[in-house]
Amino acid sequence: MTAPLVIAVDGPAASGKGTLARALAGHYALPYLDTGLLYRMVARAMMEAGHELADAQAAGAVVSQFDESAFSESGLRGREIGEAASVVAAIPAVRAGLIERQRRFAARPEGAVLDGRDIGTVICPDAPAKLFVTATPEVRAARRHRELAGRGEAASLEGILADIRRRDARDSGRGDAPLRAAEDAVLLDTSALTVAEALAAAITIVNARRAG
Ligand code: DC
Repeated sequence: MTAPLVIAVDGPAASGKGTLARALAGHYALPYLDTGLLYRMVARAMMEAGHELADAQAAGAVVSQFDESAFSESGLRGREIGEAASVVAAIPAVRAGLIERQRRFAARPEGAVLDGRDIGTVICPDAPAKLFVTATPEVRAARRHRELAGRGEAASLEGILADIRRRDARDSGRGDAPLRAAEDAVLLDTSALTVAEALAAAITIVNARRAG
């Protein structure tokens, strides 16, 4: 029997990692987990309960009673909730409370694709294939701007660029599981790539890792 294929896809906000991870899951017929959604759910639950986002004690309680089925994905995709997710994600109790469900997902017999910030470093350190997806802040801001406009959420390009820089600093600067490439991750800069080109490059990387 071949070993299960676990693909870890990490990278900063709007790097294209979600699109890429979903497409890789389709290509290899693997289940896909967008781990950012879990942090977005915790942020949403904190906001709905009226807690300050940085309240570590409240966040620990929220994550311990957490029920994924209570959230709809469409309510989790906006700009404000992404920023809020980045704040709660810096709380160690939140990260600890979400580890097991991510690892369970990754342990499926057929394998899995997970995307996030710490998949290759903390959640699946033994994943056979790890990608670290990047793009310049300007390219990421332009992508996010198009995506938000497509959903009817108006925002200035400058404002989005400022958000992205702030989010990069927070996600990379936190003490617990900061955003960084695992030593054995392959860097994929998508700044000048179309979605199809990025997918082709990612498949080449994964196949090479699989071949050993
Ligand atoms: O990938 P995303 O934009 O949906 O993630 C939202 C925030 O959640 C991100 O700014 C940081 C946090 N996050 C994290 O800390 N670890 C992950 N594995 C995924 C997301």
